[in-house]
Amino acid sequence: MRCVVSFFLAGVLMLGLVVAPGPARAADGFRLSAPDGLIETGLLKYVLPRFSLKTGVRIELVSPGQAAEVALSADGDGPRVFTGPQATWRLQVNATTHEGAVRFADWLRSEVGQRTVTSYEVDGVALFSLPSREETEIVTLTFDGDPVKGKDLSVLHCARCHAVSEETRMNTIGSTPSFFVLRAMGDWDVRFQAFYALNPHPAFTQVAEVTPPFPIDRPSPIAPVEITLDDLEAILSYVANVPPADLGAPIRHQ
Ligand code: HEC
Repeated sequence: MRCVVSFFLAGVLMLGLVVAPGPARAADGFRLSAPDGLIETGLLKYVLPRFSLKTGVRIELVSPGQAAEVALSADGDGPRVFTGPQATWRLQVNATTHEGAVRFADWLRSEVGQRTVTSYEVDGVALFSLPSREETEIVTLTFDGDPVKGKDLSVLHCARCHAVSEETRMNTIGSTPSFFVLRAMGDWDVRFQAFYALNPHPAFTQVAEVTPPFPIDRPSPIAPVEITLDDLEAILSYVANVPPADLGAPIRHQ
């Protein structure tokens, strides 16, 4: 069965067929739409059979615009999954209840999947990399927000993990750096402006009009932190006034 699957896939891919070969589809197979430009790089010919061999889930490539359970595109919705050679590619799961489709989305974003993508080479040159963090837009903020509002917002949104003030020192997760410690870092403002792009926050944080929605197959594991840029500006203005912790020794972070 697995051999048949892989031969089938190899055949489809080698011919460069992008049209569904027939109406009969394996029960748990699914359709993946991808633009010609991406198919021509050869990446999918390399990646898809590896997934199919491992899982037995057959993938049928179709053209953009055709019905498909999963879509790879440069301009669609969904999380960014890899970058190269000229675009950053997003993976959108249209059929969120389709087991094979969801499994593929998980796999492609897992360590194994990502390694498979980045190990693809043409003439010894890797064509694809993982989307860099810098691609999450980092907005420049000033400190002219309202620090009082900023304190309330910090208590509301951040204090479940961070000690954000004297009063919240005791209720937080021990290993999480306090705002006093973070404030003592030379680049504290950069870290706070970008906190939503720095782990662990992206998995549970939404900044209105800045961050992409949570991937449909990876909802926030905890009650999400939902803020606006105005809120973040206020938080920054509050943190600017937080007394830096006296750390005595150089900070070792991460
Ligand atoms: C669910 C827990 C949680 C919540 C909620 C949370 N954080 Fe964090 N934050 C963490 C942890 C854990 C770290 C340490 C990460 C590390 O050291 O790798 C961290 C680190 C940071 C850092 C330093 C990041 C870096 O890599 O330099 C900043 C800045 C920060 N948090 C700001 C905030 C702000 C602002 C809020 C609220 C709007 C917030 N956090 C809410 C868990 C949380």
